[in-house]
Amino acid sequence: MNEHVNMPTLSERADELEEKMMHDLAERVATKSVLFGMADGKIEMLNGFEFKKNNPDKYFLMGADPRLPKMPAKPTLIDFFKNRFASLNHLLQSAKLALKNGHSEKIVLACLLHDIGVASFIRCDHGYWGAQMIEPYVDEEVSWAVRMHQALRFFPDSSVGYEYPQMYINNFGADYKPEPYIVRDYENAKNHKWYMSARLICVNDIYSFDPNAKVELDDFVDIVGRNFKQPEEGLGFDNSPSSHMWRTLMWPTRYL
Ligand SMILES: [Fe+2]
Ligand SMILES: [Fe+2]
Repeated sequence: MNEHVNMPTLSERADELEEKMMHDLAERVATKSVLFGMADGKIEMLNGFEFKKNNPDKYFLMGADPRLPKMPAKPTLIDFFKNRFASLNHLLQSAKLALKNGHSEKIVLACLLHDIGVASFIRCDHGYWGAQMIEPYVDEEVSWAVRMHQALRFFPDSSVGYEYPQMYINNFGADYKPEPYIVRDYENAKNHKWYMSARLICVNDIYSFDPNAKVELDDFVDIVGRNFKQPEEGLGFDNSPSSHMWRTLMWPTRYL
């Protein structure tokens, strides 16, 4: 028997691919960006022209994805915490520990926000992404600390009792060595006036994985209110250098 008999044709495969890359939401079709496919080891994107040729009556999604929690018209940072962050536990516990250790509101906020890159957006270089997202809205020291915790995580500092995390040996292997750009940023941060702020993120981070501790987001609403310059127009609509990032979080499946 010809083993190719049941193989899909090229155009069937294209249809299959399109099917995989978009979701028909009755009225609008949600599309996946190339990055989403790369997480499955594939570099591919929907051919919009072909799709419209075969589905002339369909439109692409150009706004909110109804499968995701609804965002208010003028979203605040807290709305993103509640509706777009996959997990709050680690952030809340880090901030709580910083509070317990008597640190300033700046440091508490830095701990609360240090991993928002991971919680909402992307793991790779999460400190840099997270810092960029918050930069227009927080004290420069806070975003600097969030950016630099990315590098400092990989280097011990005995003056504050911070050791290379055992968790990293478990997760990345004993032979993992930080890349040259991480080493460079660590070296630069070491002599910076805000070094200790970034270091404190690491110190309050590492002991923050207690699955039984209960911390509520409400505990930090006032600190956020005093230290995060919430734009009146809503986060994403204020024309800051990072507002497009917040919009993308809000509408991750927009066609353009
Ligand atoms: Fe982190
Ligand atoms: Fe963390």
